Amino acid sequence: MKDSSSNQISLPELAEIFSEDYFHFGDVVNPPEKSDQQAGVIWDHLSLAKGISVLELGCGYGRITNRLAEKGARVAGLDISPVLLKKAEADAAERGVNVEYFLGDMRSLPWRDRFDAVFLWYTTFGYFDDPDNERVLREAASSLRKGGRLLIDHANYFAFLRHESPIYVVQRNDDLRIDIMSNDVIRDRRNIERIFVRDGCVRRTQLSFRQYGFSAFVRMLRSAGFESVEAYGQEGGTFTSDSSSLVVVACK
Ligand SMILES: C[S@@+](CC[C@H](N)C(=O)[O-])C[C@H]1O[C@@H](n2cnc3c(N)ncnc32)[C@H](O)[C@@H]1O
Repeated sequence: MKDSSSNQISLPELAEIFSEDYFHFGDVVNPPEKSDQQAGVIWDHLSLAKGISVLELGCGYGRITNRLAEKGARVAGLDISPVLLKKAEADAAERGVNVEYFLGDMRSLPWRDRFDAVFLWYTTFGYFDDPDNERVLREAASSLRKGGRLLIDHANYFAFLRHESPIYVVQRNDDLRIDIMSNDVIRDRRNIERIFVRDGCVRRTQLSFRQYGFSAFVRMLRSAGFESVEAYGQEGGTFTSDSSSLVVVACK
């Protein structure tokens, strides 16, 4: 039996997954109206307002960051994927918004007491082992000013175990993205074999993230320096075992 520190995913493996292929299926998985709605949920949970400074860790191709900038926040986004950051910058230019994009690793951030809010959205927390996942929380805490808020959107494994099919297929024209999911009950991780089929070529990638429940978040966030920690369902309501996501909001 191995402990939960093994099976974490390396940075080169993450870069393989979060590539042009990931972007290609982005709008099918998250159509614009869904991204609009999600940006609204984040705006409300983080009590954002015009001029408030907000950082997204793992911002991908900027589908949320650019929308928050359109609503008037001062936005920064950090990601390890140069390909996705280029897409984010192009979309920001098209929308006529100003977002600062940074290439970097969320486990080591350059900011101290700088942002009013930080968030990780769409299952972007948990790729690493426990010490590194906790490091992300400490770095987020350091980047926030006193009183700042952190939001994390995490898959709710109670709902996943009951409702979700182990195979999820996304189609765009003749191209396919096939996710084959399995639960590693020894390491409390969800493993995803993601197969991209584009123009007849097949590319296989692996993704894995740690599954944390709310009480684990409370323990980790308090030890990272947060004073209060609350749980919500994805649409902003009460968190229950049926909620598709656990949205954690912590205040420094
Ligand atoms: C599931 S995607 C979510 C993207 C975006 N939050 C959204 O809602 O569309 C996860 C993102 O995290 C980024 N990522 C993964 N590991 C990272 C790390 N160590 N530091 C910064 N970004 C990372 C990936 O490149 C990818 O863009």
